[in-house]
Amino acid sequence: MTRAIFAANWKLNHGPAAAGALVREVLARFQPRADREQIFFPPALSLGAVVEALAGRRDAAAGVQHVYWEPKGAFTGEISAPLAAEAGATWALVGHSERRHKFGETDEETGRKVRAVLAAGLAPMLCVGELLEERRAGRTEEVVLRQLTGGLAGLDAAATARVVVAYEPVWAIGTGVNATPADAAAVHRTIRRWLADHTPPGSRARILYGGSVSPENAAALLAEEELDGVLVGGASLKAESWLRIIETARPGR
Ligand code: 13P
Repeated sequence: MTRAIFAANWKLNHGPAAAGALVREVLARFQPRADREQIFFPPALSLGAVVEALAGRRDAAAGVQHVYWEPKGAFTGEISAPLAAEAGATWALVGHSERRHKFGETDEETGRKVRAVLAAGLAPMLCVGELLEERRAGRTEEVVLRQLTGGLAGLDAAATARVVVAYEPVWAIGTGVNATPADAAAVHRTIRRWLADHTPPGSRARILYGGSVSPENAAALLAEEELDGVLVGGASLKAESWLRIIETARPGR
């Protein structure tokens, strides 16, 4: 069985004390289930507290929201994939829309970061998604495929198969306006076709949806066969709403 992924991107929220407390509360109130896993992406300064709070739970993991592609050196302020791994991360987000649109990260840079993340033995979660004007102009597919091509450049098929893709339409992030399950699934199919051409025969990519996922819409989104999980921002910041999301039933699976 492929486990559904429930990923929490806390962005720049929760210092070490709040992060550790939140993970401890969530894990105390949620018993491990074979059909799902949780990944917490705290701010890097709170990673240690989250790793400690995981206390070896096999259904939960931690990651960083961003890495620089160089492993070490004179890059003041940056963090690297090997350091994240040493600190207990097993995942790294790459190419989140806030990195792309607020910090000017390019497709080529996301590619370097994915390769660095894989080289450090971490699992990359590559985020892709179109702006509202790109969707309105009918360019969603073109934009998403360009981001995939750049983000997964230089990888062989086996390495590509280790990447989880998160489709996050920029217009849905933090707006309260989620993509409809059908619209999300349509873009997932496009991503899945591209990945099928670039991964070993028989491998099934895991593709998540993100953008205003909430306790109210999680069931309808996760009812779509195409969605292998969700990447959640705002609704992952509090135990109550996060627990309601990770408890979402997925009938038939
Ligand atoms: P929201 O769930 O707050 O819309 O954020 C989505 C997101 O950017 C997760 O990476």
